[in-house]
Amino acid sequence: METGQPSRTAYSAARYRAAHQFLELGAIFKDPLAPRILGASAEELQKDAPRRAMRVFIAARHRFAEDALAAAVRRGIRTVVVLGAGLDTFAYRNPFDGVRVIEVDHPDTQAWKRERLATTGIEIPPTVSYAGVDFEKESLADRLELDGPAFFVWLGVVPYLTREGFDETLGFVAGTPGNEVVLDYAQSPERMSPERRAQLEARAERVARIGEPWLTYFEPAEIAGELTGLGFTEIEDLGPAQLAAHFFGRSDVPADTPGGHLLRAVR
Ligand SMILES: C[S@@+](CC[C@H](N)C(=O)[O-])C[C@H]1O[C@@H](n2cnc3c(N)ncnc32)[C@H](O)[C@@H]1O
Repeated sequence: METGQPSRTAYSAARYRAAHQFLELGAIFKDPLAPRILGASAEELQKDAPRRAMRVFIAARHRFAEDALAAAVRRGIRTVVVLGAGLDTFAYRNPFDGVRVIEVDHPDTQAWKRERLATTGIEIPPTVSYAGVDFEKESLADRLELDGPAFFVWLGVVPYLTREGFDETLGFVAGTPGNEVVLDYAQSPERMSPERRAQLEARAERVARIGEPWLTYFEPAEIAGELTGLGFTEIEDLGPAQLAAHFFGRSDVPADTPGGHLLRAVR
């Protein structure tokens, strides 16, 4: 991220979610606050519609996370931590009584988000609190005091961290038995078909040009090994084939197609 500037990829992820509300009528992920926090009209969002594959992946990752979160709340979780929250709106739509939400983000992005909330008149419920943290420079252990297991939503962030920043943050999540995390990660382009590889590299170049390069990729076995080593037990990892089957009932994507993954793990 560029110093003193809010994350530009946070803006584009929010646009994908907002556009999904109109272009697919929120079929995968309903988020009425997504267009509102941007202050963008349906017309603007549809006219300048970002790419469908990425839009649908982003909708799917939030649906997957919020479904898992609802199940965790049914099991008794009372704290949700949104890591690298960007313009995520769960905290302002939180339907669960007695569940608090802590948004953690780079201070520059968080300040911009709070301006957007004020400008667009989105109410901040008393259940919401904020921690401005740079994952590369600070440990969550010094900033968050949690009084029991928590559910961590960590979407669209892992590729932008160094491996050290990722390990430090994951180490905190692993610190309390009962903690649960949903994150997404990207596989390295090396194993991809030329077409997929070109798409991924083009996107990587775009984000690098705006000062937010992708720094960390994982292979499924590698991240599973890291999670297991930290004591995570239940691990669910959906790659392109499983995502196509889960969200679209498609069985035609070969099982080991490399790409973006969604992962849920319980410590
Ligand atoms: C692509 S955005 C995703 C935002 C949001 N989670 C979403 O899905 O829309 C990346 C987010 O990671 C945050 N981020 C990137 N590097 C960070 C760091 N070193 N410390 C804290 N946050 C960071 C950015 O501020 C931004 O909010």
